[in-house]
Amino acid sequence: MPKGKRVGIVGAGNVGSTVAYSLAMTGACHEIILRDNKIDIAKGKALDMSQAAAAIRSHTVVSVAEDMSQLVDCDVVVVTAGSPRLPGMSRDDLLMINAKITREVMQGIKQYSPNAIVILVTNPLDAMVYVALKESGFPRERVLGMAGILDGARMASFIQEKLGYGGGQIRASVMGGHGDDMVPLARYSTVAGVPLSDLLTDDEIDEIVNRTRHGGAEIVGYLQTGSAYYAPAKATGIMVDAILKDTKQIHPCAIMLEGEYGYNDIVSGVPIMIGANGAEKVIEITLNDKEKKMFDKSVASVQALIDGLNKNNFFGA
Ligand code: LAC
Repeated sequence: MPKGKRVGIVGAGNVGSTVAYSLAMTGACHEIILRDNKIDIAKGKALDMSQAAAAIRSHTVVSVAEDMSQLVDCDVVVVTAGSPRLPGMSRDDLLMINAKITREVMQGIKQYSPNAIVILVTNPLDAMVYVALKESGFPRERVLGMAGILDGARMASFIQEKLGYGGGQIRASVMGGHGDDMVPLARYSTVAGVPLSDLLTDDEIDEIVNRTRHGGAEIVGYLQTGSAYYAPAKATGIMVDAILKDTKQIHPCAIMLEGEYGYNDIVSGVPIMIGANGAEKVIEITLNDKEKKMFDKSVASVQALIDGLNKNNFFGA
């Protein structure tokens, strides 16, 4: 029997299992394989999701890899494995712990699913994309980070809340790293094509920008024992879907920059066109001076994390 589309998910916690469930419910792929150290929990979730797929008469089957060697020949692998963000913890506190986990996971992916397109979700996101790329030697087209779709969705929901209308018609654009210095682009955000500046005051827009930057922490503050997962999982599913269906649509994602926006050898969130080969095009949009300054600041804070890894001799170890 020919192999259908297979998606591996490393880390079957809240985000990983919600990605799996969301993909199983859309029938985007034939097989979803969950990999988690908590094997019995992963097995229980896999059975539960396969049964949900059967309930909607979908062909998707969810199974479990007891170790990385069973995550074979995946078309896409989503990596959510890592220590989660807890209250009072910045994404950056997770740096060393999650860099080591990402390295180990990438070694497994390289060995057993060498042609996979990898989507990183683990924080600090941009630094983890950098680590994944360096440790795998994969081309940048196949190592992407999920953040811009999530941050844009958060901004859109805050715009809807502020306006009290326009839901489903909002295009909000966020670039830069997935950190407190992310770059919400009000100028590139519209409601049914109407610029935000024609609908809201500068103060209201500033409030939305600020809330977007701290949108993850706002949810951590409520949940206390972990971070958001419905929107992060849906945003990840959108990237997986774009790859499997070869949609060639534009989404903001984290990717290694090779000259774009004046940067090299650093990862940041920018609009890319996604298709069957991963990032098929990196798109450069025109930034004004203020936006460019914000983007530079965001890149600098990702660079500081990479410098931190280098100082700890991470890449030489
Ligand atoms: C968030 C965390 C997952 O933004 O980074 O919710």
